This record gives sequence, structure tokens and C-alpha cells, in this order.
Amino acid sequence: MDREGSYEVYSVEELRARVPKLFGVPTGVEGLDNLFFKIEYEDGKPVRKPLGGYPYLSVLNITGVADTGKSLMAEQFAVRQAHDGYNTIFVTVETPKEFIVQSLQYRAQAMNLDFDRVQRRLFIIDAASNHRLREDIDYLLDTLAYGIREFNTKSVIIDSVTGLYEAKEVLARSIVRKIYNFLKKWRQTSILVSQKRSASEEMTAEAAGGYGVAHIVDGTIVLYKKLIISKYDSSTFNMPLGSVIRLFRIDGCRMSGHDTRTYVMDITEEGLVKLVAPLDEFLKSR
Ligand SMILES: Nc1ncnc2c1ncn2[C@@H]1O[C@H](COP(=O)(O)OP(=O)(O)OP(=O)(O)O)[C@@H](O)[C@H]1O
Ligand SMILES: [Mg+2]
Repeated sequence: MDREGSYEVYSVEELRARVPKLFGVPTGVEGLDNLFFKIEYEDGKPVRKPLGGYPYLSVLNITGVADTGKSLMAEQFAVRQAHDGYNTIFVTVETPKEFIVQSLQYRAQAMNLDFDRVQRRLFIIDAASNHRLREDIDYLLDTLAYGIREFNTKSVIIDSVTGLYEAKEVLARSIVRKIYNFLKKWRQTSILVSQKRSASEEMTAEAAGGYGVAHIVDGTIVLYKKLIISKYDSSTFNMPLGSVIRLFRIDGCRMSGHDTRTYVMDITEEGLVKLVAPLDEFLKSR
């Protein structure tokens, strides 16, 4: 019987029963949870309902140049999830495990969360120290599959995917595609950090994590920092020369509706990313 491939055709009726529920997974970042939303219809009228976090089962990319708060945001999510009772895997590609634990501990402290509780639900894969985990994507995904199954995790954080194709940027897309498909299959709400190489098109996903990572994932968050160095910027932002303004933007998300404005963000002294206000409101208030 010539029916090869027939198992790959699905009816929408059958698939509909498998559609995941859309709700939010708390981000651990003040001011961010309500920027993702869904539309519900009340008396036929569309009403915006905040999700209260990252869309459940989404694979999101956080990108920005160095020192913009990507790792802090990733850690805040990990700590929040673990504290809320959801097992979480953190794949560290840049910082060896003992140091990442130290950093997670600081994050929990700053968020006023009990680290004794967090530590029981947080699992680390150290691709920073283990060469094979970093260089062999299939080995990394096998390891991740083991962790997800063994500890029944709900979320995965990878900081950063860029570190997985350091000397082989042409493979960036295929590596990120593999990771994306894997995380979708295993139903993990995930954050992938990627380093933005180019400072051009700063507030877009352009040049994020190499080639076209933004097209593969479900959505991208762009972090940006601007040094106030010209008199023009100084008067626009009403900030002294030499100061820094940090900006945040959700640059697309295909899983849910989202706020499209640029936000001013802050990194507090204790090392927490927080959203302050939409940029236009911030400028009006100064
Ligand atoms: N207590 C703190 N702990 C950590 N970072 C802090 C703290 N207070 C302020 N910061 C600032 O936040 C920055 C941390 O940003 P983060 O490590 O998240 O950057 P990143 O975007 O991950 O950068 P990279 O691409 O280099 O990994 C620090 O470089 C520092 O300027
Ligand atoms: Mg980092």
C-alpha cells in the first residue's frame, strides 16, 4: 500500500483537542508580567486580558549587547519559577556552576525569596565547564532530556545560546532550530539568552545572536543601554551627560498579544531588572 507519509497529515479537529491553554508564567521582573495579554470577547467586544507572565510554553529570546541585564532577567525567571514550586533547569554556558549558584542566591535575596526553597527545585547543567556539552548539541539535548524527565521540569533557561556556536556562527540557525524544536516537544516554557553582536539597529532583534535567531523563536525581548554622551541626548532625556538610560522592548511574540512600547528599565543596586515606565510617559514626567 502506498501510504507513506500519511501519518504526517492531521485534521484540525483532532489537533484542536491538543491546543495548550494560554496563560502567563510569572517572569520575576517587576512591571513585565502584564505586558503579555490575550483578547477575550465580552458581549462580542474584544477585551484585553493580561496573562500575568511569559506565555505558557513559549520559547523566548532575550537579546542585547553586553551588560544590558540579560543574565539578570534569566536568573530572575529561574528563581521565581523554582520558588513558585516549578522544577526548572538552568543551562549555564558562560558562568561555571558554583558561580551561577552564587548569582542565583543573590537574585533570590534581592527578590526577597527563600533560597532554601528555591534550591530544591532548581537544576543546573554546566556547559561552561564541560566542553562536550558546549560543542555537541545532540549531547546537550540528551542531557537536557534526562533532566526534564528525571526532575519533571516545567521551564528551561539557556544563558546563552550564543555560547553554543561561538566559533561556528554559520550553524547558529540550525542549532537554535534544534533547541527550539526540542523545547516545544518537551513542553518547556523557556528563555534563551543571545548576545547581540552589532550595536546597529539597537532596539530591534537585528543581529541578535547571529543569524536570524529571532525568526525561529516565539518572541524576542530586546534590552538596550544608552550612554548619554551628547548635549542633544542630555536634553531629550533630561539626564546629565555621562549617565546611562536602559531600555526594554518586546520585539514581537507570536504566542500572545504584547505591549509594543519601549520601556525605561532599571537595574537596581542589588542587581534586579525592573521596568520603570513606558519611554514616552517617562519623558513627559521629567
Ligand atoms: N548587584 C548586582 N549584581 C549584578 N549586576 C549588577 C548589580 N548591580 C548592578 N548590576 C549591573 O547589571 C549588569 C548585569 O547585567 P547582566 O550580567 O545581566 O548583563 P548581560 O546582558 O547578561 O551581559 P553579557 O552579555 O555580558 O552576559 C552588571 O554588569 C552591572 O552593571
Ligand atoms: Mg550575561
